[in-house]
Amino acid sequence: MLKEIVKRSSSLPSNAKMLIFGCGFTGRHIAAAGKALGANVLCTRRQSHKEYADIVFDSEMQIHPSNQDLSTVSHLLSCIPPDKNGEDPLLKALGKQIESMPLQWAGYLSTTGVYGDCAGNWVTEANPPNPGQARSKRRLACENAWRSLDIPLQILRLPGIYGPGRSALDSIKKGQIKMVDKPGQMFSRVHIDDIAGAIFHLIKLSEQGERPSIINIADNLPTTNIEVLEFAASLLGNELPPLEPFEIAASKMSPMALSFWQENRKVSNQMLCQSMGYSLIHPNYQSGLRDCLMQAS
Ligand SMILES: NC(=O)c1ccc[n+]([C@@H]2O[C@H](COP(=O)([O-])OP(=O)(O)OC[C@H]3O[C@@H](n4cnc5c(N)ncnc54)[C@H](OP(=O)(O)O)[C@@H]3O)[C@@H](O)[C@H]2O)c1
Repeated sequence: MLKEIVKRSSSLPSNAKMLIFGCGFTGRHIAAAGKALGANVLCTRRQSHKEYADIVFDSEMQIHPSNQDLSTVSHLLSCIPPDKNGEDPLLKALGKQIESMPLQWAGYLSTTGVYGDCAGNWVTEANPPNPGQARSKRRLACENAWRSLDIPLQILRLPGIYGPGRSALDSIKKGQIKMVDKPGQMFSRVHIDDIAGAIFHLIKLSEQGERPSIINIADNLPTTNIEVLEFAASLLGNELPPLEPFEIAASKMSPMALSFWQENRKVSNQMLCQSMGYSLIHPNYQSGLRDCLMQAS
């Protein structure tokens, strides 16, 4: 809820200009929050007719922002995933040019997949990355490419992202759920309100000189998939299909779907919420899903 983000966040400095690369599901929510805070925020998308396409950027089509667009950007956020070759689309397109921008803060949205399998244990920023999946190895390579730049960067590692229009409620409504039963298999998640809220919180702390290079943004309550689906179904008043043991479900899964079940970890938000004092808008999936339901009605 933008109202909650505005209530607990400060805007950017009055002369700041934020450019968010890749205003898909998450990027556009961060942009909307920034605008609601009164900040000057611009967004890129690949096609000019799309919502939030203030500037067109498409690395594949070689459509880049102009030097004039870039020369006054003080805050940069990339929400663009690695390309199919594992390269970072933005770095490939702009490379070292990013270092000549007058940046006060830069953020890169990454994934907690870079931690790899942790046998169901908690994982913090102090755990060395140990990616098991090919896509997570590509992601870590992109993180490292970003970290090699001389800019005031924070890597923001995210677990499963959900929010209004993309949550267990929508999966149930579309009949797209699988009741895969694998006891002890934990998943972490974060609501888009808290990605946006945490980013404005981190920017404020960065202005005060506190800028850890890697931060997890996750809620307080990793859980099994089934718990989340059961709660979502109870909100909707829907019946769920019967549970299917993992061993049977796995034989019908795509390699991509299967890869999500091969890693088990609980993502700690201790650095964000305790060391850095961020207060979650949605500390757990119950709060987050109630918000998704309310926003849909
Ligand atoms: N979804 C999750 O659960 C999850 C979990 C952890 C981390 N992440 C990561 O967090 C970031 C944001 O996730 P999201 O779900 O909000 O992603 P999303 O909705 O798919 O948005 C991705 C954005 O990147 C843009 N983009 C993709 N390829 C591009 C290219 N070659 N050149 C220029 N722009 C390009 C897209 O442009 P268009 O708007 O024109 O399509 C879109 O705006 C991504 O890096 C994602 O991998 C996601």
